[in-house]
Amino acid sequence: MSEIAGLPKVELHLHLEGGAPPAFIRGLAAEKKADIAGIFDARGGYAYRDFWHFLKVYEAATSVLRTPEDYRRLTLAVLEESAASGVVYSETFLSPDFCGGRDPGAWREYLLAIREAAGEAERKMGITLRGIVTCIRHFGPEKARETAICAAETAGDWLTGFGMAGDEKMGKPGDFRWAFDCAREAGLRITVHSGEWGAPETIRDTLHSLNPERLGHGVRAIEDLALVDELAERGTVLEVCPGSNVALGIYPEFRAHPIAELDRRGVKVTISTDDPPFFHTTMAREYEELHRAFDWDEGQFLRLARQALDAAFCDADTKTRIAKKLER
Ligand code: ADE
Ligand code: ZN
Repeated sequence: MSEIAGLPKVELHLHLEGGAPPAFIRGLAAEKKADIAGIFDARGGYAYRDFWHFLKVYEAATSVLRTPEDYRRLTLAVLEESAASGVVYSETFLSPDFCGGRDPGAWREYLLAIREAAGEAERKMGITLRGIVTCIRHFGPEKARETAICAAETAGDWLTGFGMAGDEKMGKPGDFRWAFDCAREAGLRITVHSGEWGAPETIRDTLHSLNPERLGHGVRAIEDLALVDELAERGTVLEVCPGSNVALGIYPEFRAHPIAELDRRGVKVTISTDDPPFFHTTMAREYEELHRAFDWDEGQFLRLARQALDAAFCDADTKTRIAKKLER
């Protein structure tokens, strides 16, 4: 691994199921005699045509994760990959939709298994994980309410955030206000996927309807410089996933990605992978590609890692402990 790729990293935007290695999902499918062969390409990777098909393939892959034990194994597999990429602190999106069908009792069992695995990974690999419950926009506001109730009941020092992923073109951010108010009242910090596919007006709508501290992606803000200034003034943190955006065809290559321009304009950008095996990426690869595209040096990457840690949803003691790992 190059020196840049080997730097200690902080990742804020990682979907747990999206981190599932394809071989892991194939193994579970075989154990459960589930036929999901159609979601893989000839080389065994995930195959999808576009973003909307990606969401379907993602849900098909997730359909073989059926028990808390499956999620315990998944969490270990995902954290092994992250730790091998130099990640020292990570936040992962968790979906009660997939973990027990939004039943609060079942959700607790899944969460317990995920936390157990996170504890084991911390002891064995030195990587710290926290969870963010995420509702799924295209499942609609009613399911988002149920998801928020699961999140609120388990909010604490490990489950620290609430967010929304899924198809940004479905519904309006304001349709989900009840869920976000419920989560906020339980002390959860807020991040919303917005401005991955949605135009700048959608990002504005998200900011003004749901008032998130962080945005998942947010990169299409670059199409409206007044909005870029607003993000910089508000101090909104962008969880930028360049490799994901390139793999899904939002930008043709890393060099065309707006992360460097957003950074220059004073927006708080951070670097994440989103769903790494789906997008043939890792945190180490993101660093290498960004170094190649923008000639970013060690100082720049460490600055962005500290910026990410500042924006993390964990407590101050955890931040102090992780900050030591970022000192060079
Ligand atoms: N769920 C998993 N990955 C996602 C992405 N990139 N955008 C929206 N929802 C997602
Ligand atoms: Zn995402």
